[in-house]
Amino acid sequence: MDTVEIFDTTLRDGEQSPGFSMNVEEKRRLARQLEELGVDVLEAGFPIASPGDLEAVRAVARTVRHCRVAALARAKQVDVDAALRALESAAHPRLHVFLATSDLHLHYKLRMSRDEALDAIVGMVSYGRERCPEVEFSAEDASRTDVDFLCAVMAAAAEAGATILNIPDTTGYSIPEEYGQLFHRVRQRLGRAEGITLSAHCHNDLGLAVANSLAAVRAGARQVECTINGIGERAGNASLEEIVVALAVRQASFNAHTNICLEKIYPTSRLLSAITGVSVPPNKAVVGANAFAHEAGIHQDGIIKNPLTYEIIAPEAVGVPARRLVLGKHSGRNALRLRLKELGYEVSDDELAECYQQVMALADQTKEITDRSLLATVHKVKRRRGAAAVVAEDAPACT
Ligand code: KIV
Ligand code: ZN
Repeated sequence: MDTVEIFDTTLRDGEQSPGFSMNVEEKRRLARQLEELGVDVLEAGFPIASPGDLEAVRAVARTVRHCRVAALARAKQVDVDAALRALESAAHPRLHVFLATSDLHLHYKLRMSRDEALDAIVGMVSYGRERCPEVEFSAEDASRTDVDFLCAVMAAAAEAGATILNIPDTTGYSIPEEYGQLFHRVRQRLGRAEGITLSAHCHNDLGLAVANSLAAVRAGARQVECTINGIGERAGNASLEEIVVALAVRQASFNAHTNICLEKIYPTSRLLSAITGVSVPPNKAVVGANAFAHEAGIHQDGIIKNPLTYEIIAPEAVGVPARRLVLGKHSGRNALRLRLKELGYEVSDDELAECYQQVMALADQTKEITDRSLLATVHKVKRRRGAAAVVAEDAPACT
């Protein structure tokens, strides 16, 4: 079984998006957690972007000891020098050089010809490789780059010393079959180049970042770049937790695994939310508040009898403290009985029927029944029934 390495870019591509900026201390805290999570590579920032970013990469490089620390640089010497300075004290440094290769970017953004781009890539990859033990090259906007040119760029970058070749879907434009095909084409062009890892890096503009990343894995990618909670430019990057859990749940289908410690996924997601103050949408896969919540009566009944009926992942496997059976207007009696039991109340069938009736009436008016209103209901029912029983005993026998 192959290992798919996880390249976490929460601190770089993720942090680049509005509302997610972090200071040096926050980056260090998250970096420690990401190392515990088991990421293979941690991209700490883009040192040329600002002195603060350089300082943050430096701090992360000093903090993290086991996984590789990557720093991003355009194919420019000033960028590469800044990245190398930031990585000086890293135990396992990785220089990440990138340059856009699509005609659109070359013409409008960089005002460069293809030949000039090729020269810059070869020049900076070899310059970096002379100064850093590991160099990754990314062809920005690869999915909209002429395929023959992309193949030529990748072959040249490999020749110049890059051992990780990243094929980003920078604008989230690709679709799974097409993105996978790109990996086949590049691999074909590289031939049996030993020691070269192809990497996927997907954005979520069409909501396909995870699907595209998995298609790349199927097509031979052995590194996937992603972020916690899927944060990142515009609609975000591919979500780490979704990719990792998909590879774990469907391991037989992919014949690949990751080094991620699954139980650390939820605490890591929570830490990122706590640091940035940005919460995760409730319906977010794996880490959303509803990812392990069940409200419909039929589902609740199934879950009570056997969780496998409606859950393909056990919540505790990804570090979620417990599944939630949410009491609302779609809930059933079994879930109500269970919740009352968890709250310390055994109820008879008649009491349950009465509680259920009252809870449903309440559910029509509110979105979710809280434990507080549940307790008020069961107290009321027990009190009324208890009183009724006393009255019944005292009452003269009917004739
Ligand atoms: O989306 C992208 O192309 C990037 C590169 C810098 C890797 O983030
Ligand atoms: Zn990106």
